[in-house]
Amino acid sequence: MMVRSTMFSRMLNGRRRPQKICLQISMFICTVLLLLVIHRLYLEIAGYVPAKPEEQINRSFEKYITRYENNHWRNTSVKNVLVWTPFFDSWDWVNTVRSSVASCPAKCTVTSDRSTLKTADGILFHANDLWKYRGLIGTLNNVNIEMPKTRTPNQVWAVLSWEPMTFMWGKIKPNTFNWTMLYRRESSVYNPFTQWRKMTPEELKHSTYVEDKTDHLAEKTKFASTMVSNCFDQAKRYKIIRELQRYVKVDNFGKCSGNIICPAGVPTTECGKQHLRDYIFYLAFENSFCRDYVSEKYWNALDRNQIPIIAAPKFNLETIPPNSYLNVFDFPDIKALADKMKEIANNATLFKSFFAWRRYYRKDEINIYCRFCMELHANRPAQSYNDMEAWVQDDMCYKSTAWSLVSGFFERKLFDLGLL
Ligand SMILES: *[C@@H]1O[C@H](CO)[C@@H](O)[C@H](O)[C@H]1NC(C)=O
Ligand SMILES: *[C@@H]1O[C@H](CO)[C@@H](O)[C@H](O)[C@H]1NC(C)=O
Ligand SMILES: *[C@@H]1O[C@H](CO)[C@@H](O)[C@H](O)[C@H]1NC(C)=O
Ligand SMILES: *[C@@H]1O[C@H](CO)[C@@H](O)[C@H](O)[C@H]1NC(C)=O
Repeated sequence: MMVRSTMFSRMLNGRRRPQKICLQISMFICTVLLLLVIHRLYLEIAGYVPAKPEEQINRSFEKYITRYENNHWRNTSVKNVLVWTPFFDSWDWVNTVRSSVASCPAKCTVTSDRSTLKTADGILFHANDLWKYRGLIGTLNNVNIEMPKTRTPNQVWAVLSWEPMTFMWGKIKPNTFNWTMLYRRESSVYNPFTQWRKMTPEELKHSTYVEDKTDHLAEKTKFASTMVSNCFDQAKRYKIIRELQRYVKVDNFGKCSGNIICPAGVPTTECGKQHLRDYIFYLAFENSFCRDYVSEKYWNALDRNQIPIIAAPKFNLETIPPNSYLNVFDFPDIKALADKMKEIANNATLFKSFFAWRRYYRKDEINIYCRFCMELHANRPAQSYNDMEAWVQDDMCYKSTAWSLVSGFFERKLFDLGLL
């Protein structure tokens, strides 16, 4: 009885409180909205200047690697590769790997038959498929990629990824993987997005380069395009795109804004190539400022004889040909970038100068799987990653967290409402 009566009186006394709190919350929301509107008006007048990402410095990643005395390497004429995971759900990956090593100078067999585990020299894991299926999501999908139960000491467990491994949710036991195969230059087997590479002085001497005399600028009928399918990206590309659209025409294809012209929105499809070829410029902004991350967006634009517009930290530019792009961060503001784009669009000589690098580059015949096969034959010192997660995080991009996903989502929604 005592308890009930005090509760009752508290409710009576507190009757006016909820109204007051409601008022305070409304006032808070109004103030925030007002500030957002003022901020937006300011952007309209002053222009949006994207914040430069933090610059990387050369660092040693040695601390993440355990090195062993004996590598147990055996000198065999053929190495056996076991593909352990699918590649974005597709087991066709085995065929891709097999056909990629078919013409390789080093010899490798390729299979996904797990009964060959004991005789495998190299085991390939695709990072995304490995973690996607762990824990709750794995249970829900009724697929769970287990790690192999046994390993032989000469065996190399290699994790491959073309994406930044920020989606790495699961815990990885220390010393699970021996090699990484990523776009990061310090990977055990460097896996860049392209087979273009700079010629050595010796190769340059014997180069049979024939200059492309076509006036590619004359072939272009449209100004600039972009294709974005990840709407909630860390780099907030959408803000740069909107700012640029104030000064020049940018056609935006892809899932989140603008038109969907191609299924899956992948610029590499025939459909994508068809539509994108007509543009002088392609906005090849990456979804995050990860170390060394310059993806196929950039290289595909070059293949289409376009000038890629990128937003990249200086460090990453070391991996791509000089004077082949315009970098947002090289300009004081987006208007200056737009002016430069207009200048190039009206000057065929200037446009052509962006392709001068081709004289000094060649396409390597050795693809990533062939490279892996060659490295298996190379008698390398044994090693393993003692803290994979720390290595992944020791980068300029962040690991996605529940908070970053939620705040990214709301920021984008406010942007779409015109408030940011
Ligand atoms: C980082 O190291 C690479 C390879 O050793 C070198 O080519 C590059 O110039 C260095 N970059 C910086 C910013 O020191
Ligand atoms: C492996 O064996 C072949 C043939 O016996 C030999 O020519 C080659 O030098 C050996 N490679 C290494 C790294 O020991
Ligand atoms: C076109 O660009 C070239 C190379 O930058 C320059 O020398 C030339 O003066 C430009 N032509 C015009 C008409 O601006
Ligand atoms: C791979 O890592 C394991 C540690 O888990 C180690 O015992 C083995 O020697 C390593 N193998 C190679 C070839 O690096």
